[in-house]
Amino acid sequence: MSLTRATRLVRRSAALSRARNVPGHIRLASGVASESDPKPTPTLRTSPSTAYANPSHASPPSPTAAATIKLGEQYLLPVYARPEFVLSHGKGSWVWDTDGRKYLDFSAGIAVNALGHADAGFLKVLNEQAAKILHTSNVYHTEWAGKLAALLVTLTQAEGGLGFAPSSSSSSGAKVFFSNSGTEANEGALKIARKVGKERGGVSKTRIVCFENAFHGRSMGALSVTPNPKYQEPFAPLLPGVDVGRLNVIGDVERLVGPETCAVIVEPVQGEGGIHPAHEEWLRALRKRCDDVGAVLIFDEIQCGLYRTGTLWAHSSLPADCHPDMVTMAKPLANGYPIGAVLMRDSVAFTMTPGTHGTTFGGSPLACALGHHVLSRISERPFVSHAAETSAYLIGRLSQLSGWFPGVLEEGVRGRGLILGLGFKNPDHPGKVVAMARERGVFVLTAGKDAVRLVPSLNVTKEDVDFCVDVLESCIGKL
Ligand SMILES: Cc1ncc(COP(=O)(O)O)c(C=O)c1O
Repeated sequence: MSLTRATRLVRRSAALSRARNVPGHIRLASGVASESDPKPTPTLRTSPSTAYANPSHASPPSPTAAATIKLGEQYLLPVYARPEFVLSHGKGSWVWDTDGRKYLDFSAGIAVNALGHADAGFLKVLNEQAAKILHTSNVYHTEWAGKLAALLVTLTQAEGGLGFAPSSSSSSGAKVFFSNSGTEANEGALKIARKVGKERGGVSKTRIVCFENAFHGRSMGALSVTPNPKYQEPFAPLLPGVDVGRLNVIGDVERLVGPETCAVIVEPVQGEGGIHPAHEEWLRALRKRCDDVGAVLIFDEIQCGLYRTGTLWAHSSLPADCHPDMVTMAKPLANGYPIGAVLMRDSVAFTMTPGTHGTTFGGSPLACALGHHVLSRISERPFVSHAAETSAYLIGRLSQLSGWFPGVLEEGVRGRGLILGLGFKNPDHPGKVVAMARERGVFVLTAGKDAVRLVPSLNVTKEDVDFCVDVLESCIGKL
């Protein structure tokens, strides 16, 4: 492909990412900081890399690593098919195995390690807070839960989300419930919506609407709204009263969300399901329908939230008439230390009183001190700008691939910010590419039935992007 065509593609992809009212690309509300605006600066290649045609990381594990793997196979529940090496340590976007091989980690613990591995500032808080007080239960007040909750609410009011326009001066507030994981955050949100529903519409207002290709977690409630037969069927019966619609199909909103609906749950950018963004018009229709029937709208931003798309929430760049009543979050909030949370408008929070919900570990002083540190760092303007620039560069490079491999790849790049996907025409290919990239020292993930997913640390560098994409190009060229 000529350089001119490649440059055009980059410009087009950057323009698409900034597009207003383009389905699949969330519109920037006026007044929103332009940090999320990608700045196209890439040095593009003129042909796909073949530098990594041969595996460099495929030799069998050493006897010590093999013994560790065998021990796991003997004693761990075999619910994961893991590759044949043992990870030992990490630094930034890189990890090493016990046999000394180095890998570039574009999976970031499945969109978790926003600051990368072994971040010095994070470790300082971890050490200091662990030495001070680590766990108390929620029976007592501690220093950090309130501070982290306040930061989540004030950032949301300043940057937009949950019904607040950016720089909102609204007198209404919001509340936070802390959990330990994403699935628990969704359990909490669904329970709160059930209680609100009964208060608004009586005992029959209990139905929940979710969408195809969603992933909300593995506990019974979250699994019930994750309509994937592979995950659900072995564990049926699940929660009754769940209606499944299609993402971005406006007709399904009217058809499925009715007077008996208490909750609608959706990811603004579906992660595990294949990197599919919800369209602005559709979210607006969903919001309106929820208001009409008195249903609580829940956005699961566990994978796409907390600056992964370039803004605090994936919905922060949307007008307030597309916002939810509750947002669930988890993964990057404490950079890998377990934490989850539900952020909700006061209009739904009012229903919860002492004893109605709880957790032993959620909101511990350690998790919340770490969450406060991570959120303070990832919301700093230079950090957000850096992520936006790297995203533009990565999108620029990925945009070239479908032109070079038109028989293998779908056109375009899915997603926004640093939650990106390459769609493959043959559903066998994403798994193959993930394995081939790993054998060349790069971790990426599959998503849904047809995509390779890239969710690196938010402070990943352009040099890291170059290595990752060179390896992907070398792998795709060998399919
Ligand atoms: C959008 C979304 N919701 C919920 C979950 C479940 O989170 P956890 O694995 O922390 O329970 C995930 C995990 O991948 C997710 O991506």
